[in-house]
Amino acid sequence: MAGKSIKNSATIRILGIETSCDETSVALLETSNSPFSKGGLRGIKIRKHYISTQIPIHARYGGVVPEIAARTHVAEIVSLLEKTTGWKESFDAIAVTQGPGLATALRVGIEAAKTLAWTYGKPLIPVNHLEGHLASAWLVPTNRRDWKFPILFLLVSGGHTELVLMKDFGSYKVLGRTRDDASGEAFDKTAKLLGLGYPGGPKLSQLASRGNPKAFALPRPMIHDPSLDFSFSGLKTAVRQTLTPTPLPHGRRGANTLSPALWGKGTGIEGQVLADLCASIQAAIVETLIAKTVRAAIKVKPRAVAVVGGVSANPKLKADLRAALKKNCPGIKLLAPAKDLYTDNGAMIAAAGLWKMLKHKKVPRWQALDAEPDKDL
Ligand code: KG4
Ligand code: ZN
Repeated sequence: MAGKSIKNSATIRILGIETSCDETSVALLETSNSPFSKGGLRGIKIRKHYISTQIPIHARYGGVVPEIAARTHVAEIVSLLEKTTGWKESFDAIAVTQGPGLATALRVGIEAAKTLAWTYGKPLIPVNHLEGHLASAWLVPTNRRDWKFPILFLLVSGGHTELVLMKDFGSYKVLGRTRDDASGEAFDKTAKLLGLGYPGGPKLSQLASRGNPKAFALPRPMIHDPSLDFSFSGLKTAVRQTLTPTPLPHGRRGANTLSPALWGKGTGIEGQVLADLCASIQAAIVETLIAKTVRAAIKVKPRAVAVVGGVSANPKLKADLRAALKKNCPGIKLLAPAKDLYTDNGAMIAAAGLWKMLKHKKVPRWQALDAEPDKDL
C-alpha cells in the first residue's frame, strides 16, 4: 500500500497514543535511527510520558463501562497531547493502538492520531495493543542486553492470557491462550466476590502477602492438560462456593466451606481468613501460569522468558516464575517491564511502533486506518 516514508536521520522521536480501555496515555520516545544495533540499544529514552487512569470512575460501577471510558478519553486526550508535544512538530511519527480493545475507546485515540498525522504530515503507525505489552519489557535497558531471540512471553493482562513465542521483531507464534477468563479477570472477579472493589487484582495480591496459600483447596484448572491453554472461569465458581456453603447430605460440610464462626461482623469475611483466601486464590492462578510457562520453556527452549501485562505487577508471580525457571531451565533469564509500564501505557505503544517503523520503513495510508477491537497478534 502506498504510504509515507520514514525519515532517515540520527534521532527519531515517536509519539505513542493508548486509549484501548481505561487509561488515556501519551508518550514521546526518542531513539537513534537503528535501535537494533549496539549503539542504538543504549539510546532509547522516554522523553515524556503521561497516564491518566479512569479506575476511580469505573470503580463505582464495579468494572469498565465502555461508553464512559470513551467519553473520558475524549475529555483527557487533548490535554495529554498538549503536555507531550506543546503543539510543536516535536515528533517524526505517531504510533496508536488499533486493537484489541473497546471499539469506541480505541476510536478516540485513532481519530486524535489521524488529526496529528494530517496536521503535521507525519506517518501514522497502527499498533497491536498486545505487541505493545511485549515491547514494554524492551524499554528496560538491562533487558535489551538480554534480548536474544527466540523469547517466550507470558502475556497476562485484564483481557488476555497468552504464551507467545517471539522469533523476531514482528514475528510471533501463539503457543497457548485462555479458553475463557483471562488471569487478570480471574483476580478481579474473585476479588469482587470478596468485596475488594475494582480492579481487585492489586488489592487481592496485597492481602495475599500475609495469608496462608494452603488454607483453602482451590482448583488449578487445566494444569495437567498437555496443551498450553489456560482456563480460569472455574476458579471463580469455586471461590463463590467457598463463600456460600451448601450443606452436604447428612449435615456434613464441604472441605472448602467456611465455618460461620470465621465470618466477620460485616457483609463478608475479614482478617486472617480473608488474607488466607486471597493467598489461596493467588496461589491457584500463579501456580497454573507458572506450570504452563515452564512446560512451554522446556518445549521451545527460548533464549529468555518475559512476563508482561498488568498481572506481571504481581510480585509472587515474578518471584516464583524466576525460581521455577532457575530450577527447570537453568540459564534462562526472566525479563519484566519497569514498574510504571506493567499496565496500559503510551510508551509501550511508541516502542512497538518503533519496531514496525524500523522494519518496514513504509507505513500504510492513515486515511484507511480504523479500530480493530478483536485484533489478534
Ligand atoms: O494490562 P492491563 O493494564 O490491562 C489490559 O490490557 O487488560 O492489566 C490490568 C489487569 C487487571 O486485571 C488488574 O487486576 C491486574 O492487571 N493487576 C494485577 C496486579 N496489578 C494489576 N493482578 C494481580 N496482581 C497485581 N499486583
Ligand atoms: Zn493492556
